[in-house]
Amino acid sequence: MGAEQPAAAQPAVTRQPFGSAAGTPVEVYTLTNRHGVEVRAITYGAIITSIRVPDRKGVIADVALGFDSIEGYLTPHPYFGALVGRYANRIGNARFALDGRTYLLAANNGPNHLHGGVRGFDKYVWAAEPIAGASGIAFTRTSRDGEEGYPGRLEVRVSYVLTDASELVIEYQATTDRATPVNLTQHTYFNLAGHAAGTILDHELTIDADRFTPVGESLIPTGVLATVEGTPMDFRRATKVGARIDADTEQIRFGRGYDHNWVLNGGGTSPRLAARLVEPASGRTLEVSTTEPGLQFYTGNFLDGTVKGKGGAAYARRSGLCLETQHFPDSPNQPAFPTTILKPGGTYRSKTVWRFGVS
Ligand code: GLA
Repeated sequence: MGAEQPAAAQPAVTRQPFGSAAGTPVEVYTLTNRHGVEVRAITYGAIITSIRVPDRKGVIADVALGFDSIEGYLTPHPYFGALVGRYANRIGNARFALDGRTYLLAANNGPNHLHGGVRGFDKYVWAAEPIAGASGIAFTRTSRDGEEGYPGRLEVRVSYVLTDASELVIEYQATTDRATPVNLTQHTYFNLAGHAAGTILDHELTIDADRFTPVGESLIPTGVLATVEGTPMDFRRATKVGARIDADTEQIRFGRGYDHNWVLNGGGTSPRLAARLVEPASGRTLEVSTTEPGLQFYTGNFLDGTVKGKGGAAYARRSGLCLETQHFPDSPNQPAFPTTILKPGGTYRSKTVWRFGVS
């Protein structure tokens, strides 16, 4: 007879070493719930390295693209699982003006600035601690004044909490001592059939958005909010991702597929349903709810099989997709877009919930 079992399973968080980045130890935190869901995240970049969820028969698969060890994450890669900041997505011509000053940023994506620059938030080791009473982890870091060209010392906190409703609740918070743009997101690539299962073209997607932000050739929004009606961007009814992904339209050509920001319907301070993803063969589903006004839907068009991921998987073109909740790209240069400027005394808050299920 063994020791007495607790009446109910306690929320579980475990911590293990995960190598090091430039001499700084990196740790992996494992979150689990009572349905066998397991999420892992590392202190390097607050990167989500795996998400294990059951299918309709209870078979567990890892639905997030990534690497088995720290070495993969230290080599250039397209933001697998990454926490992206200070400004997720693009800032046109890698510059913006604020309070009468022009700030120059790294042009790390053609003429534009992408995902926080050369060394964005995804390339630092964060402090981390488990969240009491939950299966959760809180990451914190200070982004210094001038880091990657941005003004102000930014104190950032990001938490990942796995609930027994199989939701991963992601909360972002930041404060600053000088006005600065802030736009944080999570760049996990999903493949609900399994991270190494091939393309995401058969996934069915719904996005609750009547409009999107059309882009120019270098993927900077033109400033127009265009209707999705009659275009390949219309996901108001569940549609296969692959159904129109190579349509002969300018927007699809510019994106080489989907790589656009949708203007989500609704608003408010609590998360509302933004998108629903279904993988028909396994039955796995993902619902994304958010407080953010926008959603970048990116179909992994730049993946080309050269990146070797977990278990040696060669991540081919369109083998994962991202649903990046965010403010609109290039907002610091687009006065008509919802503002991304955080001022001293204010608090940036953003909340996104990924709910995993089966159909
Ligand atoms: C984003 C961008 C894409 C691409 C990926 C990373 O989501 O919108 O164009 O740069 O990140 O490869």
